Amino acid sequence: MPRSNSNRSGIDMADADTTDEKCESPQNLTVRIFALPDVTTMREEEYLLLLDFVTDECRQRAARFIRHEDRYRCVAGEVLARYAVSRFSGQRDASWRTGKNKFGKPYLLESPVHFNVSHSGKWVLCAVDHTEIGVDVEVRRRTDPAVAERFFSTPERHMLAAVNVPEETRSLFFRLWVLKESYIKAIGRGLDCPLDSFACLPDGTDGAAGLVRFDDTLPEAAVRWFTLDKEHCGAVCCFHAVEGVEIITVPADDLSAFVTGKP
Ligand SMILES: CC(C)(COP(=O)(O)OP(=O)(O)OC[C@H]1O[C@@H](n2cnc3c(N)ncnc32)[C@H](O)[C@@H]1OP(=O)(O)O)[C@@H](O)C(=O)NCCC(=O)NCCS
Repeated sequence: MPRSNSNRSGIDMADADTTDEKCESPQNLTVRIFALPDVTTMREEEYLLLLDFVTDECRQRAARFIRHEDRYRCVAGEVLARYAVSRFSGQRDASWRTGKNKFGKPYLLESPVHFNVSHSGKWVLCAVDHTEIGVDVEVRRRTDPAVAERFFSTPERHMLAAVNVPEETRSLFFRLWVLKESYIKAIGRGLDCPLDSFACLPDGTDGAAGLVRFDDTLPEAAVRWFTLDKEHCGAVCCFHAVEGVEIITVPADDLSAFVTGKP
């Protein structure tokens, strides 16, 4: 197993669990998210090390990006997923053969472990669990009322309209965004799922949120939001009760050690 590091400094995480035990127990109600910060400032030699380790498909996708940050996020996402699954299962690079569902969600072919990757701005996240899972991270940029109108459901728009302070509006806007994304990623449908067919409503400041489904065929799920830093927020969704979310910060050095097999 690679050297592990669970430095959570800089994480403003509601309900963050500070333990670093193995994560393999199906009874464990803490959801684990492995998080690589500062992916955009990774050194080129680190990137090339990671590039050697990923699948041909990932390498080809990375090559199509013009901006180096996009290449870094793409490649680091696959390596982080392999790292996270290995740590979760306690087996290095545990049976890494993946497929994709018809909406593009990657899954492991020979393992009961589920994972989901998200990347935005400086962060790459990989949530791992024993049931289907979805995770989303977003950079908190400018809010756009037209986007809320187009993507949010009626209760979400009402919740947003009730806030008058610009900074709170921005926080809520992105909280709603990541919560919705985490749900459509957990169910594996992505934008095939109509975004007005459900609402994710943040409840207070502790990361809790409620899910309301306007379509009976959509599954019940647990959704939680969290703040990574001043500019980035995220959310996770899974299909069992959740007592907490643990963000496990993974330094770039750990990924390099993982791919080279060095302790
Ligand atoms: C593709 C989608 C699943 C996520 O897109 P995204 O937020 O741009 O990207 P993220 O970084 O969070 O996730 C990308 C990763 O999710 C995974 N993924 C791809 N399709 C997926 C699916 N159907 N379900 C779950 N995960 C999926 C892949 O691992 C992908 O990584 P890769 O791009 O390196 O291959 C989809 O939800 C989408 O296109 N969203 C666009 C954003 C939007 O308009 N949102 C509306 C506001 S709520």
